[in-house]
Amino acid sequence: MTSRRQFLVVGAAASLFKPARARAAKTAGTDYPYAEFDARIARRDFRDITRDVLPTPAMIVDLDLFEKNVKTMADHAKANGVHVRPHVKIHKSVDVARRQIAQGAIGLTCATMAEAELMSGAGIKHVLWTKQPAGVNNISRAVALSKKDPTFMFVVDDPQVVDWVEEAAAARNARLKIAVSVFAGLTRQGIAAGQPALELAQKVAASKRMDFEGFMAYSGGAAHTKTWQVRRARSADDLAGVRETAELAHRAGLPVNIVSGGSTGTYNIDHENGLTELEAGSYVFMDTAYFAIGGKDDDSVYTDFKGALTVLTTVDSKRHPNGATIDYGNKAMNRPTDKVKGMPWLEVASQGAEYGILKWTEAGRDLKLGERVEIYCTNLDTSTNVYDRYYVARGEQIVDVWPIMGRSGAAQR
Ligand SMILES: Cc1ncc(COP(=O)(O)O)c(C=O)c1O
Repeated sequence: MTSRRQFLVVGAAASLFKPARARAAKTAGTDYPYAEFDARIARRDFRDITRDVLPTPAMIVDLDLFEKNVKTMADHAKANGVHVRPHVKIHKSVDVARRQIAQGAIGLTCATMAEAELMSGAGIKHVLWTKQPAGVNNISRAVALSKKDPTFMFVVDDPQVVDWVEEAAAARNARLKIAVSVFAGLTRQGIAAGQPALELAQKVAASKRMDFEGFMAYSGGAAHTKTWQVRRARSADDLAGVRETAELAHRAGLPVNIVSGGSTGTYNIDHENGLTELEAGSYVFMDTAYFAIGGKDDDSVYTDFKGALTVLTTVDSKRHPNGATIDYGNKAMNRPTDKVKGMPWLEVASQGAEYGILKWTEAGRDLKLGERVEIYCTNLDTSTNVYDRYYVARGEQIVDVWPIMGRSGAAQR
């Protein structure tokens, strides 16, 4: 994993860039002292590190837009009496998570045990893991993390898993916080709503080692449903079951502390559907799949949250009319549904692992060799997963670098 510590250790022997040299680098063909690049970053000395000298492809976070997105969600939550427990799967970054917590998020939602370990290990409390452990690896780790961090919570959707984790918790003398995962339209997980979910909740509540916390129901099908009205109807439909289950649990005398779910697409819908907290994730950066769903006031484009993340690329060959080659291929998660920032006349296509093509049909358009072009990716989850850092920008200037949880370190496994 690319950790902040790794960034820091390379810093010691670095020397400062000369501003003049950095300025010269803005002209293609000139030199730039890249041997010192990571050392500068490790020392958080970002002078003369501007967008135009970054290695590409690189992920860029527009800090102002990112901060605006986090605040928009926080303000919405406050105004509507719902909590935010944002999903980290789309950013995999402790730096992003800390900023979400600073704006009032009550904890974090994670897709993998590795994400949960990373976030909890960074000192962030109330991490919810929304997948049940079903093998010795995840069961042992979920129990170990529960012991180390009593605020950690995970879900179950099967009585068999309750028995397994109970046994593992007894062996380690651990106490577990458990939510029951209820089906909400996606066939990937969740026990049937109503009596089956209630019985599972009662089994958890009756266990010696577990505290029953409430329910989790992710209505992922609603998240990207186009047009706000259709999305609203779909979400109400998908969440009707968990709503009924929570009422049954109340009547049966179970404490229901949370009903967790929701998404960036349904953030301004799901407080109507009985959720007490939103697991939205993509809102911090946004991607083209989300731009296309339409907002409450505009069916054609979703503008509640701004595109704060782009992949910076370089035009590195121009040998054919109405097209230019960029260094953004399959390894960089090139997708035909990606969009080019500020240049809607361009279409994105892949030409292999390291090559992408930008094409256009409009007369009078062109791109220059060496030009920097920024791409909005289609799906944040899969794109951020293949990069190791965010370059955080204010205008042209890089003001910070945030590591993305790595793919090869222990925490990823
Ligand atoms: C369990 C869970 N909750 C919530 C979300 C919502 O995330 P987003 O706001 O990025 O759509 C996801 C996304 O896949 C998820 O898997």
